[in-house]
Amino acid sequence: MKKIYGVMGDPVEHSMSPEIHNDAFTNHNINACYHHFQVRRAGLADAVRGMKAIGVSGFNVTIPHKEAIIPLLDEIDEIALAIGAVNTVVNREGKLIGYNTDGNGFLQALTDQYKSPLAGKKILLIGAGGAARGIYFSLVKEGAPNVDIANRTREKAEKLVVDCPYPKNSRALSITEAEQGLGDYDVIIHTTSVGMSPHIDASPIDISNIKKGAFVSDIIYNPLETKFLAEAKSSGADIQNGVGMFAYQAALAFEIWTGIFPDAVRMKEIVLKKLG
Ligand code: ATR
Repeated sequence: MKKIYGVMGDPVEHSMSPEIHNDAFTNHNINACYHHFQVRRAGLADAVRGMKAIGVSGFNVTIPHKEAIIPLLDEIDEIALAIGAVNTVVNREGKLIGYNTDGNGFLQALTDQYKSPLAGKKILLIGAGGAARGIYFSLVKEGAPNVDIANRTREKAEKLVVDCPYPKNSRALSITEAEQGLGDYDVIIHTTSVGMSPHIDASPIDISNIKKGAFVSDIIYNPLETKFLAEAKSSGADIQNGVGMFAYQAALAFEIWTGIFPDAVRMKEIVLKKLG
């Protein structure tokens, strides 16, 4: 019987996940299809019960349900629980199990392009929202403990450091403090929504005083080059946009569902073709 997968969110119709997963299912001769599931906040519990009742094999979870879905699932993977957000659910013999592939997806995209070992590097994470939590926990869990966090609301950065269950060497900073110390960082990662289409003229930080040879990553992929990335490039940085993270978080979800790690480069190309 054809297996059913999908992405649950609101809004969700713009998501490119169906294109990349359906292509991967075809590519691997898996008899499955992946849909958009528009689910309002108030309908989440019913939708999760419905997924179980009709035997959906797995689904992604996006805004605004990533946190709210946790108590509705049967089991939560350790890092997803620590992060407090789920972006991937698998149905294993009627049990819905939640995972978070955002942080490790980011890490795989980063190490694809940034070849130097991360362990001793000084890293600045800008933002302290859901995406930042996943990235921060994955970085420190994988042995890159020197991560400072700068956020508009500094208390949220402080909370993130406290919440992180893995050994780390982190400071919580204001944006101004981060700007003043920018030259210290080998890797700078931007995770807020500042600069995302249609607000493409905004940048979260003055990036002009970066270290020579710094690597600067933005998890935004629309536009492909944010104002922040363009300024980082002008200041001599190597840059990376969010397409790689998007492709790898999807590839890791596909692996959880099927046991097969798909061609993430092909996934990236589908996204680039659609955006370009
Ligand atoms: P996500 O799940 O995409 O990370 P989120 O949890 O709502 O979204 O987090 C949004 C992040 O973007 C936060 O770090 C937020 O800063 P605050 O904690 O101060 O709210 C940051 N952010 C959003 N709009 C911003 C703006 N105009 N200027 C600076 N930071 C902003």
